[in-house]
Amino acid sequence: MTQPRREVLEKLTPVLTKRWLSPDAWKIDVYERLDGYAALKKALDVHPDDLIQLIKDSGLRGRGGAGFPTGLKWSFIPQGDNKPHYLVVNADESEPGTCKDIPFMMANPHELVEGVIIASYAIRANKAFIYLRGEVVHVLRRLQAAVREAYAAGYVGQNILGSGYDLDIVVHAGAGAYICGEETALLDSLEGYRGQPRLRPPFPAVAGLYASPTVVNNVESIASVPAIVRNGADWFKGLGTEKSAGMGFFSLSGHVTRPGQYEARLGITLRELLDLAGGVRYGHRLKFWTPGGSSTPLLTEDHLDVPLDFEGVGAAGSMLGTRALQIFDETVCVVRATLRWTEFYMHESCGKCTPCREGTYWLVQVLRNLENGKGTEEDLSKLLDLCDNILGRAFCALGDGATSPITSSIQFFRDEYLDHLRTGGCPFDPAHSTAWAPALAVTGARA
Ligand SMILES: Cc1cc2nc3c(=O)[nH]c(=O)nc-3n(C[C@H](O)[C@H](O)[C@H](O)COP(=O)(O)O)c2cc1C
Ligand code: SF4
Repeated sequence: MTQPRREVLEKLTPVLTKRWLSPDAWKIDVYERLDGYAALKKALDVHPDDLIQLIKDSGLRGRGGAGFPTGLKWSFIPQGDNKPHYLVVNADESEPGTCKDIPFMMANPHELVEGVIIASYAIRANKAFIYLRGEVVHVLRRLQAAVREAYAAGYVGQNILGSGYDLDIVVHAGAGAYICGEETALLDSLEGYRGQPRLRPPFPAVAGLYASPTVVNNVESIASVPAIVRNGADWFKGLGTEKSAGMGFFSLSGHVTRPGQYEARLGITLRELLDLAGGVRYGHRLKFWTPGGSSTPLLTEDHLDVPLDFEGVGAAGSMLGTRALQIFDETVCVVRATLRWTEFYMHESCGKCTPCREGTYWLVQVLRNLENGKGTEEDLSKLLDLCDNILGRAFCALGDGATSPITSSIQFFRDEYLDHLRTGGCPFDPAHSTAWAPALAVTGARA
């Protein structure tokens, strides 16, 4: 196996991952030994407004998908309004392919807790919530243990480190729904209601949790804060590209030799990431990939050199999203993959608005027919027409996201859809896409 080139290796930036290999990295004494809570001590000596300015200057943009500038979001919280302020960390992580926050919280929960305390202090919140999918019980326990340790050490609670600042942190387990990752549905769910998006305005910064000013940020956004406080805004800005500062997780999954989390400068390309990850699985070639989870339009081999930052991926017709790079080789039927994603969106549609509730149902019906070779060529126009009636007309971005795999797969693989009609069924054998496919090839077995 060839080794990654040196200039590619230099694009790796272990900041959030730097403690992962230390034994018991999730325990407070290990975290403290490795620089942990040093940023908090520094931050408590700084005026909250200056901290907000520091995060603005760093150019940190939200890591939950949309890339909204984090410092700017914090600055929207009205001051002197005599209302409680809240920080809510979005740890719902449910998008197909997205798998960065869960392993991060398992490996390094105190970096998130430290970020929560600094961010809460900056926006003058005395209560913070971490909203986690309830199914990941092991992560829930680890986070709860980390918060308990932080209370015992005096980093959370009353008069933190003698600063006069008070903060309580609640780790909340949601029931497990993709829509509860949408920030306003998350707030409804946290208040005990069914998780459905709210009408905006008012935005959460003005009327969020319990109708009070609230910042909702992704886990990785908040966890990036201690390193910025420790190293300064210029250090962070120097890591990424001009408009997409810093480093981030790139989660490689699927048909790749070494899947996993690659923490690198924004602007790295998939070609470079594949170099680090040992390439597409042996004996196969790249067919299509998602740059940021299933709701970001598919890209192909032609996009290997697109800089993976907000601007670069946007210019290529997709979105950086959560940097969830799902890699599919030539054994995968794009119609089948698109059908699976669309079934997910139909299942997860909260039902509040008609374009998404009805539209995702009909998308699945048409795609199922096509995958089984039963449709007609007109069905492709029907799919595009349905997508056109969802995109921009749905109440929240779940509906928009559902159209991404469909429109992009038709754009790049129209002939493959038509092949299903010509052959009266799917021309692919799904067994060849599985992890045990090489063994099947040796024994000559077929699924
Ligand atoms: C259907 C749907 C699911 C989402 N799921 C998540 C999620 O699991 N985690 C997350 O941080 N953001 C998620 N988002 C984006 C949030 O609405 C919001 O933009 C984000 O939490 C803001 O944090 P950031 O500015 O730090 O990125 C989702 C959005 C939609 C429409
Ligand atoms: S787009 Fe879908 S998930 Fe969003 S509000 Fe409408 S029905 Fe609910």
